[in-house]
Amino acid sequence: MAVARETLPQGAQVGAYRIIKAIAKGGFSLIYLATNEDNGEEVVIKEYMPKKIARRDADQRIVPISADYTENLHHGRRLFFQEVKALASLQHPNIVRVNAFFLANETGYLVMPNERGRNLGAYLHARKGGLSTSFILEVFVPILDALALLHRQSMLHLDVKPGNIHLRHGNQPLLLDLGAVHPLSRGRLRGGQVITAGYSPVEQYFRAGQVGPWTDVYAVGASIRTCMEGRTPQPAPERQKEDKVIPAKEAMKERYPDFLLEAVDWSLSMDAAKRPQDAAELLNVLAPHLDDPQSSRLSEATSELLDDSRAI
Ligand SMILES: Nc1ncnc2c1ncn2[C@@H]1O[C@H](COP(=O)(O)OP(=O)(O)O)[C@@H](O)[C@H]1O
Ligand SMILES: [Mg+2]
Repeated sequence: MAVARETLPQGAQVGAYRIIKAIAKGGFSLIYLATNEDNGEEVVIKEYMPKKIARRDADQRIVPISADYTENLHHGRRLFFQEVKALASLQHPNIVRVNAFFLANETGYLVMPNERGRNLGAYLHARKGGLSTSFILEVFVPILDALALLHRQSMLHLDVKPGNIHLRHGNQPLLLDLGAVHPLSRGRLRGGQVITAGYSPVEQYFRAGQVGPWTDVYAVGASIRTCMEGRTPQPAPERQKEDKVIPAKEAMKERYPDFLLEAVDWSLSMDAAKRPQDAAELLNVLAPHLDDPQSSRLSEATSELLDDSRAI
């Protein structure tokens, strides 16, 4: 029964915006394409809707599924707002911009520019990995720069994965979904309890786990590895029991340069203390290679050819 997930209908008015259609659904939110009625601009709106504890009533309001969840829902909404506020203060070319946020239907709405392009997760699904070194650097160096800004401001993303990276034209990446963003200063260990198998390191699974900038670093390492192999790495709790993740340095020897394979292995260390400690540390080893002749467009062309021949 889709009742609890029901999206706002086409033509619905929320604040100054009119809904065109729903474009995505997640565990905590619904995403819509909408028009700003004031200026005709097309925008993307994220509606706070934690599906486990809330549903939409006949008046389109987001209400708890039972009275037991009233407090939870209010608390979640407050966090959504705090996080959006923090996000709005961040100015970075590779972090999705916040146009506005407002309260309506007893929930929160985040308004963003409608970014043209494609999702890295979807692209990877179609390509099945084997992305070139230059592509990987073009995407992840800016993403690490964006994360370095978050980390400098004592914030964590906590849900880095290919599905949360949008590729604008020319592969200019944009970090999305800062819904799990967690201000360290709040002193709680976890924000939205978001866990993504394969990308979340082991410390995100346990209440006593010490999350930190190194948690985002693991997720970046896992995302890069997915770009190479075309599949999500083994989930961290399974790795803890029996680690089947063969070091990239062995598994992908000669298909990628050593510096990149070493960076991936370093980032995917199970022991948080053995990883780069924040995005800046990983960025320092990758950024100098961005303009390497070795990882230039020429090698991308070569690797596309190799990919094609592998596919046959
Ligand atoms: N500003 C935007 N412009 C274009 N597409 C977007 C935008 N924000 C989100 N999306 C699309 O919606 C999907 C879900 O957005 P995301 O912020 O990751 O929310 P969720 O919490 O539901 O995962 C993204 O993968 C992307 O394809
Ligand atoms: Mg997402």
